[in-house]
Amino acid sequence: MADLSSEVFGIKFRNPVMPAAGPNVKNSGLMIAAAEKGAGAVVSKTFSVKPAEDPRPTMKKTVSGGLLNCETWLEDSYENFLYELKKVRQETSEPLIVSIGYSADDVAFLGSLLEKEIQPDAIEFSTHYTGSSIDPLLKVADSLKSSVKVPVLMKLSPGFPAIEELVREADSIVDGFVAVNSIGPALDFDPVKCRPSLGSEWGQGWLSGPPLMPIALGLVYRLSEIAAKPIIGVGGISSGIDAVKFLMAGASLVQVCTAAIHGGPATYGQIASGLSEWLDSNGYASIAEIRNMYKENIKKRS
Ligand SMILES: Cc1cc2nc3c(=O)[nH]c(=O)nc-3n(C[C@H](O)[C@H](O)[C@H](O)COP(=O)(O)O)c2cc1C
Repeated sequence: MADLSSEVFGIKFRNPVMPAAGPNVKNSGLMIAAAEKGAGAVVSKTFSVKPAEDPRPTMKKTVSGGLLNCETWLEDSYENFLYELKKVRQETSEPLIVSIGYSADDVAFLGSLLEKEIQPDAIEFSTHYTGSSIDPLLKVADSLKSSVKVPVLMKLSPGFPAIEELVREADSIVDGFVAVNSIGPALDFDPVKCRPSLGSEWGQGWLSGPPLMPIALGLVYRLSEIAAKPIIGVGGISSGIDAVKFLMAGASLVQVCTAAIHGGPATYGQIASGLSEWLDSNGYASIAEIRNMYKENIKKRS
């Protein structure tokens, strides 16, 4: 059987498939189940200093297996979520990556608290609701980095206007990137009702799932050419072969959200098994053999 293990950000992973922040990891039960059912790590839903208040409904299926959502961050207090994370720490031995947001002050406060109370293996911060200019995001990165000792990962949003510039500048601050978040604003609705299908202002939402995958894969390829730091690929992954493509295009690890919203916590382990089967049947002994393979083939051509 192919070797799926690796060491990234100084953390050992038994396999490269883990949850992405979302409702699939909004409580300890779902996070623990992810680890028990084969994920290589646990990632939490993003939480902040103030609970979110999301308009209902927050999710709606759209074309080609895609999902539209207007969910923001956790709709619960950070005090309650720390309690959930403590349970995850007690009941699982897989690496724990905790997702937080949003301002420089928020992440400094939550980062220090997490290190004291939970000791996560890494902290991911979302850039989804922190505007479209680079400097404020670099300040958030600096603030979190100077508040904690654990690796800090910047989660990138695909619609960020100067995403390459952001990665170039942030590369010397953070320890890695997560690419990408959902894309939008996007729209779909039932023409018979001719009304918004999401609770947002005009029914707009963020698009995730298979229709996002070619965009995410393209960004992982482009950004891994710029970043010296490892990238976790995310966007539309629902099978082992999808994970293979992300690893070949420059990702070191992968995350899964929408497929797990549909398929439950067993999804991560199923994708890891699919990855292992693909490696076996194509004659590869480990994920290390396929990492960056697509990029290297492109370079050989030029
Ligand atoms: C309902 C929903 C809620 C999400 N919430 C978060 C979040 O709290 N923080 C975050 O960084 N990303 C969030 N995301 C984005 C996912 O983590 C992921 O980056 C994106 O959906 C693309 O991956 P996927 O196609 O596997 O879903 C959310 C996605 C969905 C569908």
